[in-house]
Amino acid sequence: MTGPSVSSSTTAVVGLQWGDEGKGKIVDLLAAEHDIVVRYNGGANAGHSVVVNGERFALHLMPSGVLCPGVRSVIANGVVVDPEQLLNEIEGLRRRGIEAGPLLLSDRAHVVMPYHKAEDIARERILAAPTQSGAGSIGTTGRGIGPAYAEKVQRGSAIRIGDLLRPDVLSARVGTAIETKRPMLEQHAPELAGEACDADRMVELALGWGRQLASSITDTRRVLRDAVAARERVLFEGANATLLDIDHGTFPFVTSSSPSVLGIGPGTGLPPRAVGRTVGIAKAYQTRVGAGPMPTELSGPEGERIRERGREFGTTTGRPRRCGWLDLVALRYAAEINGIDEIALMLLDVLAGFDELRVCTAYRVRGRIESDFHPDTAELDGAEPVYESLPGFSEEITGARSVSDLPAEAIGYVSFISEHVGVPVSLVSVGPDRAQTIGLERGVYA
Ligand code: GDP
Ligand code: IMO
Ligand code: MG
Repeated sequence: MTGPSVSSSTTAVVGLQWGDEGKGKIVDLLAAEHDIVVRYNGGANAGHSVVVNGERFALHLMPSGVLCPGVRSVIANGVVVDPEQLLNEIEGLRRRGIEAGPLLLSDRAHVVMPYHKAEDIARERILAAPTQSGAGSIGTTGRGIGPAYAEKVQRGSAIRIGDLLRPDVLSARVGTAIETKRPMLEQHAPELAGEACDADRMVELALGWGRQLASSITDTRRVLRDAVAARERVLFEGANATLLDIDHGTFPFVTSSSPSVLGIGPGTGLPPRAVGRTVGIAKAYQTRVGAGPMPTELSGPEGERIRERGREFGTTTGRPRRCGWLDLVALRYAAEINGIDEIALMLLDVLAGFDELRVCTAYRVRGRIESDFHPDTAELDGAEPVYESLPGFSEEITGARSVSDLPAEAIGYVSFISEHVGVPVSLVSVGPDRAQTIGLERGVYA
């Protein structure tokens, strides 16, 4: 990829908060204008809901372009793949009449094994134990994400998708992995240790997955390189979100990959210049699932109202999401990290009926005012939000289809956000369905 910029035909969609911003809906919408949708990070910890003609689909590993006929799906090397989950997802789609288009799976993506899921659970139990006072669990999804990425970085015992076709490599690596994990699993997840530490069973499972997935396994880097060079329209689908980034998120309450646009290079093998338009997805308020700081969290009836109206329960684990007012300190930071071109503002309809809408524009930290986000958990734990109050809107807006259908207060709220972040809001979403979307072209404040 040398010569002039080739990025104008590619789009990245990334989450700007702590996940569940509505990336699935936007990827599904934008997929219609793309040839390929690529997952580049995370694994089945993602839960992307897409609603088509009133039917809800929850996707965890399959790229959210799969519901768009003709779109090719790529799971690139940066993803950690639980083959059992992937095969179940493909089968689940088939049973609902969706014949997934061609799926390409990187031979270099790492495999999440049952012992990774067991280890995830065991480690969370260790962190939560009273003897570990102070540590505290992360509240992971239990999908084996951290242990699978840790195995990748450890190297010797990791299994890549390409290894599912190599029985000799599999046996050696599985044996080593189990040897290092057995004592912990037997002590802290005994109900899972039996099967997870049965090396013969693990190898047999893995070979079975290899047989079923063989026709999809390929060097996806080459496929993507050729697609970008041919100016095919490629959409990069971020899973998880920027504030959960292993390097730039609220560590240690983060996931184990780089969900931001920064993860696309290592996660696909494409150079940074291959990423063109970057769309940041944000909710009109804040949510978080799992532990970690959240300065604008509302523990009373206002938070409850947002949770009920937004159906804020996890797509992957069903856990109630923590809800709060929009945090513009964090949003500006996430916009910077990703260098976004535009914001898609989601779930605005959920805020109907509040007399006032509060937005956090700064924190008070140990007596001083701070408006520049510092992703430091100790600092954020002590951060008190400084709010500005904007007028609310009483009428429901789920039927709005253009800006002129929106109450002036709703437009004022959107304008305030885009002005504060310094990036246009190009789209407002007022419901889960494809049709419940308002395109704003250059942004309401332009
Ligand atoms: P993702 O992980 O970023 O793809 O988001 P999730 O799918 O986990 O969570 C977003 C939820 O909000 C899903 O249930 C969507 O169907 C739903 N949703 C998306 N956009 C809107 C919207 O504008 N309004 C409402 N009420 N729901 C929405
Ligand atoms: P989508 O793609 C919301 C959170 C978990 C936990 C932390 C670490 O649907 O937006 P992990 O299982 O990754 O080790 O968990 O990260 N988390 C998410 N929260 N949406 C997600 O994905 C998430 N992916 C990870 O709840 O706090
Ligand atoms: Mg989700």
